[in-house]
Amino acid sequence: MSPYSAPTAPRPPLRVALAGIGVVGGGVVRLLEANRELIARRAGRPIDIVAVSARDRHKDRGVDLSPYRWEDDMEALVSADDIDVVVEMIGGADGSALTLARRALGAGKALVTANKAMIAHHGLALAAIAEEKDTPLKYEAAVAGGIPVIKAIREGASANEIARVYGILNGTCNYILTQMERNGASFADALSAAQAEGYAEADPTFDVDGIDAAHKLSILAALCFGTRLDIGAVTADGIRGLIAADIREAEALGHRVRLIGMAERDENGLYQHVQPCLVPADHPLAYVPGALNAVVAEGNFVGRLFFEGAGAGAGPTASAIVADIIDIARDEYGPAFAMPVDALDAAPAADVGARVGKHYVRLIVEDRIGVLAEITAAMRDAGVSIESFIQRGDDEGSDVVIALVTHESPASAIHAALAVLGASDHVVGAPMHMPILAL
Ligand SMILES: NC(=O)c1ccc[n+]([C@@H]2O[C@H](COP(=O)([O-])OP(=O)(O)OC[C@H]3O[C@@H](n4cnc5c(N)ncnc54)[C@H](OP(=O)(O)O)[C@@H]3O)[C@@H](O)[C@H]2O)c1
Repeated sequence: MSPYSAPTAPRPPLRVALAGIGVVGGGVVRLLEANRELIARRAGRPIDIVAVSARDRHKDRGVDLSPYRWEDDMEALVSADDIDVVVEMIGGADGSALTLARRALGAGKALVTANKAMIAHHGLALAAIAEEKDTPLKYEAAVAGGIPVIKAIREGASANEIARVYGILNGTCNYILTQMERNGASFADALSAAQAEGYAEADPTFDVDGIDAAHKLSILAALCFGTRLDIGAVTADGIRGLIAADIREAEALGHRVRLIGMAERDENGLYQHVQPCLVPADHPLAYVPGALNAVVAEGNFVGRLFFEGAGAGAGPTASAIVADIIDIARDEYGPAFAMPVDALDAAPAADVGARVGKHYVRLIVEDRIGVLAEITAAMRDAGVSIESFIQRGDDEGSDVVIALVTHESPASAIHAALAVLGASDHVVGAPMHMPILAL
């Protein structure tokens, strides 16, 4: 049958089960109900919620679940004959989410998930089950929430060799950095504001230490480079070490501080690193405000692609999940990582220390004679030459903030210099360093 011709008989509804009815699950129920007619026309058939499941049946979730069958036991979603697609919105790399995902795919059901931790850790194993059972595994919502970046890279940019992929992959951190930028706030105050606004969890570790961004980066890297997912090879430095002066000095240098996840493949292997960076003010990433996310992919024919949008929240995340469900309704699916698991190759991890670039370095030092000489000597001994240097009184009064920009140097040389300076009696607290993003 031609894809243009109307089906001779209407296609049966696609029957969906929702596992986990929290922020995201509630959004999916609302979206499927609100746009039901439009979605049916686009998908070529209705999409029906058949069953829902979470831990507490009696919890008020702000959505009416009475039209749907409630299952206390998720196993019932896997064994039911009237369910085509299981949507996993529970969370966590392992535990109930992983058990459900394995069992659903194993039973030949399609799986849609928003769970970046699970995909980062177990995506290859799940993709292998999906292939064996010839059933879809889709995870658009797992990376950058509402931004359709998985589809864009997997399909729209699929003709390109991608040299590097990078971006702002955690909205909580971007919100905190934007607060620090606008108000001159400390990291602690900006984090409290993010928690008060609901952008950060009570325990912000996953976000502010770069772990959440690392999960998303590893998924993007596999997709962009055709490599096997390797979350163990991603290194992550978060934003806890930043102080208000870093944001100020970056601005004085014509840059903004952003937490950047970057993956790049070259002859040395695959580099995957999440860390705060100085982004030049003329790069679009410097203008991504608040809790938004943005992804840049550089293709050898298309050039630079830039995607920006909401990386979290009920509506945007539901938008990505339902787009996956619509693809399944249209029978549009293929290998989860754009090629069969056996075709993905294992790139060796590149040495992060060998990366050459300019760096921003900040130290707080005692205001006394000889300290500047100590800094320049440590840099010289490590083979790092200094391009520019700013010295200002500390906000507290007695100490001095030194911010400097290096010429191009390997990261390992910066680490060596800072190890020496960090041990000095005249340096207060831990030195901070950030690479300056090269365009
Ligand atoms: N929130 C976002 O903006 C966002 C964006 C992108 C991706 N994601 C991903 O989407 C997933 C869900 O996030 P969320 O924010 O919606 O989480 P959430 O609000 O905490 O909801 C989690 C849901 O899972 C259920 N659940 C938890 N543990 C369970 C278990 N052991 N057995 C059965 N049900 C269980 C909970 O049941 P009860 O309600 O009964 O406790 C709840 O309904 C996560 O993987 C997250 O990383 C979230």
